[in-house]
Order: sequence, then C-alpha cells, then structure tokens
Amino acid sequence: MLSVQSLSHAHRFVPATEAGHAPLLLLHGTGGDEDDLLPLGRTLAPGAALLSPRGAVLEGGMPRFFRRLREGVFDEDDVRRRANDLADFVRDAREAYGLAAPVAVGFSNGANIAAAMLLLRPEALGGAVLLRAMSPLREPPAVDLTGKPVLILSGAMDPIVPADDVSGLAATLRSAGATVEHRTLPSGHGLSQSDVALAQAWLAAL
Ligand code: MLT
Repeated sequence: MLSVQSLSHAHRFVPATEAGHAPLLLLHGTGGDEDDLLPLGRTLAPGAALLSPRGAVLEGGMPRFFRRLREGVFDEDDVRRRANDLADFVRDAREAYGLAAPVAVGFSNGANIAAAMLLLRPEALGGAVLLRAMSPLREPPAVDLTGKPVLILSGAMDPIVPADDVSGLAATLRSAGATVEHRTLPSGHGLSQSDVALAQAWLAAL
C-alpha cells in the first residue's frame, strides 16, 4: 500500500462527503497552485472527493504542468514526460486514498496537461472537463478513448487559444472514440458563470 507521503506531487486531497460522485482531479492554470481550484471543485460537484496537485514545473516562479517555449508553443518532449509523471501520480494517489478513476477539471495549462493525459495515458482519467484547452501535441498518438466523456468549453474571444486549434483537439478526441461535447462561450480566456453552470450540469449527468 502506497503512503500519502510518498506521492510525487505536492497536492491537496479533500475526501468525499457523499457517495456516488466521481472524484475530481483539479488542474490549475499557469501561476496557480494546489489550492486554486478547490472552491471551483466544491461548486462543480458538492460532496465529491477532490485531488488537486501542483504543477511540477516552474516558469519564472510560476507553477505549470509542463514547459513551453513561448505562449502557445509547447516543449512536447516535456509534455510527454510530465503527462506520464502526472498519470503515475494519479495512479498512486488512487491507491493511497482509495479512489475511482477521477474526472479531470483543468483550466488553461491544466486543461492542456489533462488533454495530454487523455492522449498518452487514457487509463488515468474517467473523463475530463477542459476549460480553455489547446492541442498539447502536434502529432497525437493513436489511442482508444471509446466512451470517455469529455466537455470542452472555449472562449470565442480567447486571445491565447486559436479557434481552429481547439476544434482540432475536439476532432482528435472524437476520432479516438471519446464522447465529446464542445461549446464555445462569448468570453475570453477567463472563466465565466456560464462555464461553471455548464460544467456543473455536465458532471451531474455523468
Ligand atoms: C499553456 O502554456 O499551457 C497555454 O499557453 C495556456 C497558458 O498557460 O497560458
């Protein structure tokens, strides 16, 4: 049995207070940390267990989940390495805390590492809510995501995520068999009340 102390990533764990909810894996954006998305997780799925790791990479002192060369241009070797490390963390945390496969809720950089985990280590996640995601890999591997539920919420005025990039991600996940719902909201890179309401309803219907 793995001990909590031996887990690879600094993280918060909030146990479930109600049965019947998938645990949420909360993945923050650039400059966030393991505390950032706990209030969002509580709002999205009251009573669910929350597992919230801190990204292991620092960019100018800001935690992230993988390295980038500049905004929107990723170090894809590092994406692969860090997605595998995070999937190992999730596997070990599931054993240490006794959890079912979590549904990732990732924002921005956190959404991008969640998308990379779906493509590289699909067994790590029961599904994903990708908030302001981009394609993490230019040449995604062949993967079987049959039946994996994925909600992608994009912003029509997002200055960081090009519309065709996120549509490409949705198409890649769909052609791998995932059940993808992709909605574009009238917002920018930041989250809005509509994101919260849509993600809440989608999670409740799982
Ligand atoms: C990323 O680097 O993952 C994306 O550009 C989003 C961001 O963190 O700014």
